[in-house]
Amino acid sequence: MFRRLPEIETAPNAAAQAVAFTIDGRPASARAGDSVAAALLANGVTACRNTPVSGAARGPYCMMGVCFDCLVTIDGTGNRQGCQVRVAPGMAVETQNGKREVER
Ligand code: FES
Repeated sequence: MFRRLPEIETAPNAAAQAVAFTIDGRPASARAGDSVAAALLANGVTACRNTPVSGAARGPYCMMGVCFDCLVTIDGTGNRQGCQVRVAPGMAVETQNGKREVER
């Protein structure tokens, strides 16, 4: 469903700009400068959390910090807006399920 534009995929230094991180413990790769939400979508992860009431899957929607549908846990800190954080080497991104935890 989501894929990068061809000119970005074939950029001469695209491989050099690759950022290694993990999604739910699985190795993943992003492009330097990607937001976490963009990196999730580029890696085929369209749902990054489930709602606490119905369990419905939610995923990045607005990509500009308004909808809060991109909440994920980043390096152990929960409820981070994936679209507002740049992916970094070694970053551990976890999807969230159910109710938000205040202290997480
Ligand atoms: S995608 Fe809407 S706030 Fe992040």
